[in-house]
Amino acid sequence: MAPVYEATVSAPVNIAVIKYWGKRDPTLILPTNSSLSVTLSQDHLSTRTTVRASPDFGGDRLWLNGAEEDVGASRRLANAIATARGLRAALEDQAGGGAVPLSQWPVHVCSENNFPTAAGLASSASGYAALVSALAALYELPQSASELSRVARVGSGSACRSMLGGFVAWHAGVAADGSDSLAEQVAARQHWPEMQALVLVVSDQKKAVSSTAGMQTTVETSALFAERVRTVVPARMAAMQRAIAERDFAAFAEITMKDSNQFHAVCLDTYPPISYMNDTSRAIAGLVHAFNAAVGRVAAAYTYDAGPNAVIYALEPDMRALVELLAYCFPRPADTAPEAFYPDPFGLFESPASVGHAVALPAVAALAEATGRFPAGSVRRIIHTTVGDGPRVLSPAQSLLDSAGL
Ligand code: DP6
Repeated sequence: MAPVYEATVSAPVNIAVIKYWGKRDPTLILPTNSSLSVTLSQDHLSTRTTVRASPDFGGDRLWLNGAEEDVGASRRLANAIATARGLRAALEDQAGGGAVPLSQWPVHVCSENNFPTAAGLASSASGYAALVSALAALYELPQSASELSRVARVGSGSACRSMLGGFVAWHAGVAADGSDSLAEQVAARQHWPEMQALVLVVSDQKKAVSSTAGMQTTVETSALFAERVRTVVPARMAAMQRAIAERDFAAFAEITMKDSNQFHAVCLDTYPPISYMNDTSRAIAGLVHAFNAAVGRVAAAYTYDAGPNAVIYALEPDMRALVELLAYCFPRPADTAPEAFYPDPFGLFESPASVGHAVALPAVAALAEATGRFPAGSVRRIIHTTVGDGPRVLSPAQSLLDSAGL
């Protein structure tokens, strides 16, 4: 039997605490500013991708969450595959005919998220990080994850940060060819083991303006944006790296919230204006500030991307009070069981019945009482997760393709 040339990997989602918004080169996806993110655990949010190369395939094909997509329709996808192939071709040249000519064979790609696409969570970051990691494993590329982040970047900007675990900076770079625009780990996840995140999936009817289109309009029309790029982000990148190095949660949280707020402010300053947060998003932000006031320190930080979902960072010891408050103020949808609404992966509550009832800390209980309850289902589910590692190479048994490569 002929050998099968295949690799399967999984890759994580990342959520920025200093936002990437704006490109100086839309084809190479070179950003106007550096950004910094936290990689989330693949136990709760990840994309798995299998790639196989074969001289018998008629052409490149891709299946995404069970449905075939037209590979030729996406220039970004074609660019990412072509860039990885180029690195393989260089390797084959070096080997002088001693290597299998994988770079000349078509590939079949199958990709699946372990979270519902309908949740409105960004999947392009984990998706492109998984694709590029799978191709790198298949092609046995010698490049580091940081070097390979340049390849993920041409698929989707934020994807370059999903090539590494822990706390990750994407350096904007200055080179016109993008050679210095890559992601680098600022700290490993073990550096700050108490750091955790809650993803609050918020109900939304509206179709949001895509990040790609939105950020281009911002670059062209917002006067605030120019100031953000010139002075605000460089100072915040330095302060954020310091906060992480010193495990200073209050500083981390304040910068995170301010940067999310400024990102949404430049969206409103875009002409015509873009608004991603809805009433529920704003209520969550208000509640986080009230929670911090109630506990007398900055114990939680919200951040929002190009949609209404909230991500809240907090340290492990504060999570129980925070989840109780959120679950009280944002009751689960009528058709959702408590364990589907908040699966409690870390066993914060002995029984799911306690979620949404008594709040442990008196100050937080008083706050819950004073805030009252928003309409059931305003928040559809709460995903509780930790900081995670970078892409993982999985075993052949985890393949998403069948024996025929379909
Ligand atoms: C708001 O990476 O989705 O999530 O590069 O055009 O694919 P493209 O955009 P994308 O933008 C993400 C923007 C953001 C902020 C962030 O992740 O830094």
